[in-house]
Amino acid sequence: MNIVLPLSSGSVRRGSDGFRPSHRDKWLSIAPEWYKVQPMKRLENRSVLITGGARGGGAASARLFLAEGARVFVVDRDGHALTALQQDLAKTGAELGIVCADVSTPAGAEAAFAAANHFLGKIDILFNHAGIILVKPFLECTLAEWDELMDNNAKSAFLMTRLVLPQMLERGKGTLIFTSTTGVRAATHLEALYCASKAAMHQMARAIAAEYRDQGIRSNLICPSFVRTQHGEHEISQLRSYGVLASESDVNVMQGRICEPEEVAEVALFLASDASSFINGAEIFVDNTFTAV
Ligand SMILES: NC(=O)c1ccc[n+]([C@@H]2O[C@H](COP(=O)([O-])OP(=O)(O)OC[C@H]3O[C@@H](n4cnc5c(N)ncnc54)[C@H](O)[C@@H]3O)[C@@H](O)[C@H]2O)c1
Repeated sequence: MNIVLPLSSGSVRRGSDGFRPSHRDKWLSIAPEWYKVQPMKRLENRSVLITGGARGGGAASARLFLAEGARVFVVDRDGHALTALQQDLAKTGAELGIVCADVSTPAGAEAAFAAANHFLGKIDILFNHAGIILVKPFLECTLAEWDELMDNNAKSAFLMTRLVLPQMLERGKGTLIFTSTTGVRAATHLEALYCASKAAMHQMARAIAAEYRDQGIRSNLICPSFVRTQHGEHEISQLRSYGVLASESDVNVMQGRICEPEEVAEVALFLASDASSFINGAEIFVDNTFTAV
């Protein structure tokens, strides 16, 4: 015998807000104001300075941070890419502050800091993302290349952080994010200077966390593996030209697939927001097991 159960109210198809679609509009028209209030965006009232953010993971972060309510300023040494990003965002009604400067030099870093301060008024979050790669046999690397890698990957973060940190300390709160690499854990063929320069920046960021924790500063690292950006694609093609572990199937073995810049941005957002309030001095590997095996 078939038993027919009566329809309970729980079996009625409802939207994610718990209302039957046909009832939602009617309810909203008479709902009290408090019901209609949108949830706070994750970076509401926050001001962010991103270095090396004209494209790639920095640009993806700028877009996401703006969408999450932040005021965002980007410094990059590629003026064309910066303007293109700013114009693209303007089409959506978002206002991005920009300045073209090289943050590996004291003058460039100071110009970036002054322009960002002027646009933002204050800097709550500094995202040190700018960096460069060199793929070359160790014994062919020159002293000039050593300096170039150290300047762009370590000194730039030192210069920017020492400019921004004092105002964070004055307010008793500040968030620093640094883009490191899986190369600080899994040393990479032909990238000795890159790994060395990133490792210097990496440990500086952790030492800053230890030194300033009790003054309200959080300092954390994102360590991506291969990301689909100009940097990542150049790195892969260079490694391939040397016949080193970077064919498509190698990348798939190491990390399943290439990482998208938006996946780096999501981690940056987590570290920038209060969702990560007890995370400090941490290294987050965005690598889909690259360093786990
Ligand atoms: N793409 C990857 O596979 C990968 C993996 C691990 C780590 N990273 C790190 O990510 C960062 C690169 O970002 P991406 O992958 O988004 O690459 P990207 O090439 O898309 O963007 C890098 C941006 O940084 C800018 N830049 C570089 N040096 C600068 C300087 N001194 N001053 C101002 N701007 C500068 C470039 O002009 C460029 O717009 C670097 O720190 C790199 O070490 C990248």
